[in-house]
Amino acid sequence: MPEKKQFRAIKGTRDILPPDSSLWNWFEQTARETFESYNFRDIRLPILEEAELFARSVGEDTDIIGKEMYRFAGKLESLRRAISESIGRLDNSSRIYTFVQFLAVLKRNLNEALNNDVIPKNMSNLHRIGQLEARCREGETRLLNGDVEPSQAWTALYEETTSILDDFRPIEKSDETLRPEGTAPVCRAYIEHGMHTLPGNVKLYYIGPMFRRERPQKGRYRQFYQIGAEVLGQSDAPAIDAEVLEMLLVFFHRVGLTRTTLYVNSIGDKECRPKYVELLREELRKVKDHLGADSQRRIETNPLRVLDSKLPQEQPIIEKLPRISDHLCDACREHFANLKNELRLRNINYEENWRLVRGLDYYTRTTFEVTAEGLGSQNAVCGGGRYDGLVELLGGPPTKGIGFAIGSDRAILSIQEGAEAHALPGLSVYIAWMGAASYPAAVSIARKLREAGLSVEMPPEEMKFKKSLGLADKLGARYALILGEDEVASNKFTLKRLADAEQNKFSEYELLEYLESERRG
Ligand code: HAM
Repeated sequence: MPEKKQFRAIKGTRDILPPDSSLWNWFEQTARETFESYNFRDIRLPILEEAELFARSVGEDTDIIGKEMYRFAGKLESLRRAISESIGRLDNSSRIYTFVQFLAVLKRNLNEALNNDVIPKNMSNLHRIGQLEARCREGETRLLNGDVEPSQAWTALYEETTSILDDFRPIEKSDETLRPEGTAPVCRAYIEHGMHTLPGNVKLYYIGPMFRRERPQKGRYRQFYQIGAEVLGQSDAPAIDAEVLEMLLVFFHRVGLTRTTLYVNSIGDKECRPKYVELLREELRKVKDHLGADSQRRIETNPLRVLDSKLPQEQPIIEKLPRISDHLCDACREHFANLKNELRLRNINYEENWRLVRGLDYYTRTTFEVTAEGLGSQNAVCGGGRYDGLVELLGGPPTKGIGFAIGSDRAILSIQEGAEAHALPGLSVYIAWMGAASYPAAVSIARKLREAGLSVEMPPEEMKFKKSLGLADKLGARYALILGEDEVASNKFTLKRLADAEQNKFSEYELLEYLESERRG
């Protein structure tokens, strides 16, 4: 018999099993209670969104959009596959006419795609198509001149073409994606449902999975979970930023995540940031040769992201770069100063970090991050900031916004690695029933105890008394409720506390009273 394949969770995803899942539920429930006490309300968003929503808000030149989104085949993706397949089907022999065939297939497909708007007619797409055609023509000429062996030429051309096609994945209108984050979807929903007409600020929170195709490591997954909160409305008062941070830290305190550091920064707005970015770019160009490949590329695409670099040899260079705090406009400087006053008013400890620019393009002014101990390099448990103007960018009315997202995987990992053990409610009562006559009474009391909010386990079939109590022990029950024919006849239940074997007899009423008061502590 061939061995059956054993399935495993795919790379970067994992199962969260009991008892960890109880910790997760408690963590999420505490977030709900905390956030609701600040008048935030739950919003449930789809996991699938249009890819363009994120491209426009998070930014085309970010890692999330450039490499990490799980996108589904739109029309272009199907076209890419169709081309690869038809090339693959061509007679891969040494004959010259395969080139002619090949060119014809490619041209027909690409022209169709351009004319039907499957491939947007923008500069970079036209450039790539031109590149493909030029390669084909070059190959053909070399072959006709007899410069290369036909089979060699064909193989090289085939490989090159498929590789160009492989990274030819511009975001197209019909693309759908698993969401990599929650802020853009919240803004999309805010616009779609006309929430700007609601009174006061709109305060929303969300809990759920996000997806990014990153290299998995401790604290970094491809499916991970966030608890996010967002405030949208007309005001950008620093008190809102401070209240959001207060709420975050109150939550962390409640769940015992206390060995944390809050870093804050202001990255300016559309008045002052472009000038600073230009200055930074000029300074970076001067030291370009001393920077790594990623930073060199970012000088042109997104110089702020160079400040995020962790490369050791770049650190002394970065330390000497101009700092945004020296280049904020008056309004941004005042906003940041007021935020810091508001934080002091609330006794919130923070550190300023001028390099905190964050990896998403939508931020203006306030940015912040919280790191926790015991996590290694992936130690950010929460990131957030202000994103005034994002709603407008997505086609909505002028709106201010601020929020954060907690990475639950990391926060829970840090709690688990901390010293404090969490006593979570487990199994309260195990009903050890014996004899057919006691079964109806067991069914009835199990239901009543469960209605009273206790966790109750009851064997579905009769078990020997000793075995039954042994199982109660192994399941970690606090009490065994013993129910035999004697108990039924006398209308009394025997309750045994498993930790010290203390036993008492109770009427049904007394039993419910006793266990309920136990549960309430
Ligand atoms: P972010 O910094 O990309 O911000 O993610 C927030 C948090 O999610 C991170 O600090 C981290 O704890 C967690 N996280 C991110 N990627 C992973 C991963 N691959 N594995 C495990 N945890 C991860 C945002 O997503 C913004 N939407 C936050 C925000 C809300 N800004 C304003 N409002």
